[in-house]
Amino acid sequence: MIDLLSRFDSIRAVDWQGDHLRLLDQRVLPFEERFVECRSPAAVASAITDLVVRGAPAIGIAAGWATLLLVREQRSCELATLEPGLAHLVAARPTAVNLAWAVDRMRRLLATPGCTEQAVFEEAQRIEQEDLQANQRMAMLGSELIAPGSGVLTHCNTGALATAGLGTALGVIRAAWAQQKLKGVFAGETRPWNQGARLTVWELFKDGIPATLIADSAASHLMSEERVQWVIVGADRICANGDTANKVGTRQLAIAARYHGVRFMVVAPSSTIDMAMPDGSGIEIELRDPGELTHSRGVRTVAEGVDAWNPVFDVTPAGLIDALVTELGVVIRPNTRRMRDLFAAS
Ligand code: MRU
Repeated sequence: MIDLLSRFDSIRAVDWQGDHLRLLDQRVLPFEERFVECRSPAAVASAITDLVVRGAPAIGIAAGWATLLLVREQRSCELATLEPGLAHLVAARPTAVNLAWAVDRMRRLLATPGCTEQAVFEEAQRIEQEDLQANQRMAMLGSELIAPGSGVLTHCNTGALATAGLGTALGVIRAAWAQQKLKGVFAGETRPWNQGARLTVWELFKDGIPATLIADSAASHLMSEERVQWVIVGADRICANGDTANKVGTRQLAIAARYHGVRFMVVAPSSTIDMAMPDGSGIEIELRDPGELTHSRGVRTVAEGVDAWNPVFDVTPAGLIDALVTELGVVIRPNTRRMRDLFAAS
């Protein structure tokens, strides 16, 4: 099956080049395939803040490689020496827990006696490889839940662009497509940054999976026509009770899905689960520049003086989630007990 899947998975957005990190610049896709070369940890932090690299797992992977750049820049593996640089990296974006998770993993390694640059290199490589393996496993587990002849709707971009490859929610969609189970794949535009319109349908088109773009506001109508049986999304932070932060608009999709009897699947590796966060009320929601709403490609499209509010994530309550797919297993209707059981069983 993994061989079959690789036919539908050609893009790599985060690429270690031996002395620098090469990032596919996601700000200019789909019209330009341009790369940004990061030669310092600060350059990687800026690339994360500016959305050159984006998507929770990809941000974590980039942070792993940034730690290696930091070790080389400081010529030290001492945690105390590296801590300001590590803290700067974590501050690049607040909501996706994979960033803090990857840096904490590096901190633990650096705290071990005799840690070497080679060990840091191998850990960064492991973070990346484990993500791809997790995606392959989740693709299998998630696609098993989908009945043949189903239609699916996804949000934002959760594909190879957002991960080490294959994707989370898009990995499940790729697998279900490879198994010829899908009669329709729909993607919402995902305003204001248009990850669905610019990235998801491009990524799927490149890999031969025809997806249909819809305006975010068309989702309820699509559901009312019974053209989708599953909404399948990724996550940026999943709490101990299953509450899930993801790209803004996810929550309203979950509410609409419940109303229409459409099932709702979250697909994310365990690196996105934050068992230290009891529920969604504690998650910091990133607020971005209102200019992302008032301007399009640098041109103002809204009357001068009009105010805009731009939260870029929202929290879907666990009660609206039918299935949480992780590489450790599937949690049906997640709650605190079932989330604990997931980790206890692994
Ligand atoms: O602001 P972004 O583009 O980094 O937001 C990404 C999302 O919300 C994705 O849906 C999520 O990170 C899952 S990516 C596998």
